[in-house]
Amino acid sequence: MSFAQRHLLGIEPLSQSDITTILDLADIYAEKERSDAKSSDALRGLTQINMFFENSTRTQASFEIAGKRLGADVMNMAMQTSSVKKGETLIDTALTLNAMHPDLLVVRHPHSGAVDLLAQKVNCAVLNAGDGKHEHPTQALLDALTIRRAKGRLHRLNIAICGDIAHSRVARSNIHLLGKMENRVKLVGPPTLIPSGAADWGVEVYDDMREGLKDSDVVMMLRLQRERMDGGFIPSEREYYHRYGLDAEKLALAKPDAIVMHPGPMNRGVEIDGTIADDINRSVIQEQVEMGVAVRMAAMDLLARNLRAARKPQGVMV
Ligand code: NCD
Repeated sequence: MSFAQRHLLGIEPLSQSDITTILDLADIYAEKERSDAKSSDALRGLTQINMFFENSTRTQASFEIAGKRLGADVMNMAMQTSSVKKGETLIDTALTLNAMHPDLLVVRHPHSGAVDLLAQKVNCAVLNAGDGKHEHPTQALLDALTIRRAKGRLHRLNIAICGDIAHSRVARSNIHLLGKMENRVKLVGPPTLIPSGAADWGVEVYDDMREGLKDSDVVMMLRLQRERMDGGFIPSEREYYHRYGLDAEKLALAKPDAIVMHPGPMNRGVEIDGTIADDINRSVIQEQVEMGVAVRMAAMDLLARNLRAARKPQGVMV
């Protein structure tokens, strides 16, 4: 196994072999999670602190379960009631926590780059659970594992990522990952929701969803990130659903065995028709959640191994 990273801040710094190492270990954890023997002690004796400065259901619960299944002492900081509300800066909060000697810090923050900055100030492993519009590496990894298990491979697939690309850290991390693994990646959405310069990222860009979905093996839908929008990016939700909402008619343009993905939370009737989301023959949305725990277990296990190796006292020459 080769994984030489100290932190998991994004997909951009990872190599193909880093990604494969995480996914291979996550596959083992995924099988274990389906058995009665869910728990192990890879993180026994280590302290994991989850700091979520933005709302989260899946990601926070999944990091907490992953840590507990691996035997870590897990603490969820209630950021809504912490001293951040009294004006303490992110760095001061981080330094305070650092003085309590955590081993793994899981951080979600509304500002792009905030988690990287924090990682420079602490001496434990930091995992990015989503920073602004920048990256959400464990989401892209769990998406990759879901795709690999459903399609039997993670290369040379035709993948459409649809909707609010401009405000999505999920899209950004997936573009890095799927590109590194040599897939054909298509971004589909209204020009107002496609970041300028996207055409230089080695992807294809479509504003006609019917064109964009053609021959896709994977259709990945995204939520409109209203909390990151500061103006009118779409005429109306009704109009948006008509042009960019995934319904049976548009999905019929993808391959007959194409899978449908969504990172959640979903807005049914806005970016996706509820019937498609619930169709167990097409939708892998629940598998994504299941793989989330396995991927987070794998990522924390690998980082903890590196942390322990770095802390091991050096042999003394006599
Ligand atoms: C995503 C996020 O927070 O970036 N959700 C998640 O982690 N499952 C996507 C979203 O909020 O739309």
